[in-house]
Amino acid sequence: MSQNNDLQMPRPVRDSQSEMNEIVLPNDANPLSALLGGRLMHWIDMAGAMAAHRHSRNYVVTAAIDHLDFWVPVHVGDLVILRSSVNRVFHSSIEVGVKVWVENYIADSCEHVSSAYLTFVAVDGKGHHVSVAPVVPETEEQRRRYDDAGRRREIRRAELERRKNRRS
Ligand SMILES: CC(C)(COP(=O)(O)OP(=O)(O)OC[C@H]1O[C@@H](n2cnc3c(N)ncnc32)[C@H](O)[C@@H]1OP(=O)(O)O)[C@@H](O)C(=O)NCCC(=O)NCCS
Repeated sequence: MSQNNDLQMPRPVRDSQSEMNEIVLPNDANPLSALLGGRLMHWIDMAGAMAAHRHSRNYVVTAAIDHLDFWVPVHVGDLVILRSSVNRVFHSSIEVGVKVWVENYIADSCEHVSSAYLTFVAVDGKGHHVSVAPVVPETEEQRRRYDDAGRRREIRRAELERRKNRRS
């Protein structure tokens, strides 16, 4: 792993929190004018990468996306709001949480659509993983997410091991 002391300084969660907004257009939707799940997954990946890039100040690749639920349909004309936040850094990997909201400015409504946890790995120009600065949770909510991310990492590692064994 390569090290750069400036890049290894711990940084607070708030420094890399990101928001991305999209208006759903016909090309994003199925014949019933509902947003395609795949398009939302792409936006979630982008929103998550923004926080991971900002925190690591490096290239990152998506290593894994946890389970995704779509709670409510989103339609053409709706405004989709994606908020991302670094939950925890391990060594070269970063867990980012992305929460998605849909706002309908005609109906004056705002609903929670989806939440996702993504793991990004910081890499150098050759695609080799590199270490990332620790993240500093400052609020009670951020500390809860930090602790939960540790538990999710253990589950993820066990699952990954199980899948690797099945492949071989
Ligand atoms: C992610 C990738 C760089 C890891 O490769 P690697 O460095 O050889 O993997 P290692 O086993 O040494 O693990 C390095 C880190 O990645 C994490 N990691 C690797 N695979 C992971 C997975 N499937 N899920 C979660 N974390 C993973 C490890 O836990 C480790 O984290 P740590 O440094 O914080 O402890 C490599 O698998 C890759 O390039 N994958 C393709 C990524 C990509 O193209 N994504 C776009 C979608 S196609």
